[in-house]
Amino acid sequence: MNTTPYWFENRSKALHPSLDEDLEVDILIVGGGICGVTAAYLIAGEGLSVALVEREILGGRDTGHTTAHLTYMTDTRLSELVATFSRREAALAWEAGRDAMNFISSTIAENEIECFLKTVTGYLAAARGTDVGQEKTLLQQEALMARQMGFESHFMDSDPVTHQPCIRFENQMEFHPLLYIDGLARLAVSRGAKIFEETSVTEFPEPGTAKAGNATIKYKRVFIATHVPLQGDSNTVGAALFQTKMALYSTYAIKADLPGSSTPDMIWSDTADPFLYLRVQGDGDSRFAILGGEDHKTGQDQHSDDRYEALEKQLSQIVPGATVTHRWSGQVVETVDGLPFIGPTSDYQFIATGFSGNGMTLGTAAALMLRDWIRGEEREWKELFDPSRKTASALGEYLRENKDFPVRMIADRIHVKEGDPDSIRPGEGRVLEHQGKRVAAARDQDGRLSICSAVCPHMGCIVAWNEAESTWDCPCHGSRFEAGGKVIAGPAEKDLEVF
Ligand SMILES: Cc1cc2nc3c(=O)[nH]c(=O)nc-3n(C[C@H](O)[C@H](O)[C@H](O)COP(=O)(O)OP(=O)(O)OC[C@H]3O[C@@H](n4cnc5c(N)ncnc54)[C@H](O)[C@@H]3O)c2cc1C
Ligand code: FES
Repeated sequence: MNTTPYWFENRSKALHPSLDEDLEVDILIVGGGICGVTAAYLIAGEGLSVALVEREILGGRDTGHTTAHLTYMTDTRLSELVATFSRREAALAWEAGRDAMNFISSTIAENEIECFLKTVTGYLAAARGTDVGQEKTLLQQEALMARQMGFESHFMDSDPVTHQPCIRFENQMEFHPLLYIDGLARLAVSRGAKIFEETSVTEFPEPGTAKAGNATIKYKRVFIATHVPLQGDSNTVGAALFQTKMALYSTYAIKADLPGSSTPDMIWSDTADPFLYLRVQGDGDSRFAILGGEDHKTGQDQHSDDRYEALEKQLSQIVPGATVTHRWSGQVVETVDGLPFIGPTSDYQFIATGFSGNGMTLGTAAALMLRDWIRGEEREWKELFDPSRKTASALGEYLRENKDFPVRMIADRIHVKEGDPDSIRPGEGRVLEHQGKRVAAARDQDGRLSICSAVCPHMGCIVAWNEAESTWDCPCHGSRFEAGGKVIAGPAEKDLEVF
């Protein structure tokens, strides 16, 4: 079984150099996922000097772990958006997604980017095992509401996957996310952008200056496109408070070859919580499906094999005879009110985060909004995505998400048991009390043992082993670290201390 996301087949190496000299640019972009790369392409097109700095390789984190449905249908249901915001604002959120889809398809067509873009039908189906009568009424109402807002949608009694009541959406899309961002990155470089991979931004010693690797970058404005935002040059208290409006969830995906050509190309999801999401595509007899779901709060479940098995069971019911070839997991960032935070956090800093499972479209929308900000223009959804907005009706959700922090902070410390790191087996990771310290000990498949502090450098919670990804994940705000302690996802900005 291949445990690397399917999109990385035939592509794993860095395509751009690392940074080894000081730079001065108009715009610094930190992070090379869909958000950062789209921004580099757009900003270079404005005739400004731009540098993009990526810690790993382009798309190496969530953009490479996605299932890449391109849809304006948000993970937060339309009726929920209307209840939290208003009918007009719910429509605006979907319009932002549709705008991004139009940008993606026209950019691919104009520049002949080969990334298997395909227009497909999308379905939102009632979850099996729910009160179908109640769900059917809600789906009928949502289909009508979406149509009245100008989105082509129809209620149907039976979807093609699970034969449940559903909404059918026309003109949705799917593509290969890495081929797309690689194409955009090439275009950005041809427009003059400088792209650096395997280079980490480690510090913002003062406004307008960032440390990246051994180099210093001077910039006029910075775009923090790191999925979970770095503190950047905002103050620590502000950054910590901002963090309490978000929560990281792990989500799982399996890719399977399909036995015949009977299942049509489509994107599909259901209304379960957590929900299942499926894409089907291919040519002739060579067809495959990717099924995702089984989400849980990052760092709060260590039995990933059970999650994959649950997905395989679901897939065998949906498409009998499918052969699973790949499995992987990734993170989605949820916000307190269900919409992302996109916009400036100071005169010279712009952030984009909290895309839930809509980062392909809303991450693209964020890059378009960055360009607006630089041009001094605005789109209608600017206020809606404003990072400082107050959505009072989401306060209950805010409290629910953040109750974890004090509880985990204390409980996880009490439950650490005394142990000997030498007892760790290959492929295993465990948090132990050892020589008076709480240590995170992991052994790789070649038998090498790494021992670091189990205390998350963000705000001091105890990390937990993620057996699916062989990483240390923090249950409080979702920071993630390699088995050897190197930080791979914030809000933590420092590595685990190595012993
Ligand atoms: C399994 C799964 C399925 C999904 N399905 C869909 C879907 O069908 N449709 C959809 O629209 N969305 C989907 N999503 C969500 C979507 O993939 C993400 O929202 C999107 O990829 C986020 O893009 P990004 O550019 O913000 O972040 P990322 O792709 O994570 O990029 C951020 C980059 O910043 C880099 N970075 C971090 N810190 C630093 C630093 N200090 N210095 C330099 N670089 C740094 C990281 O290495 C990373 O590459 C899915 C996600 C997952 C995990
Ligand atoms: S304490 Fe906040 S991410 Fe670990």
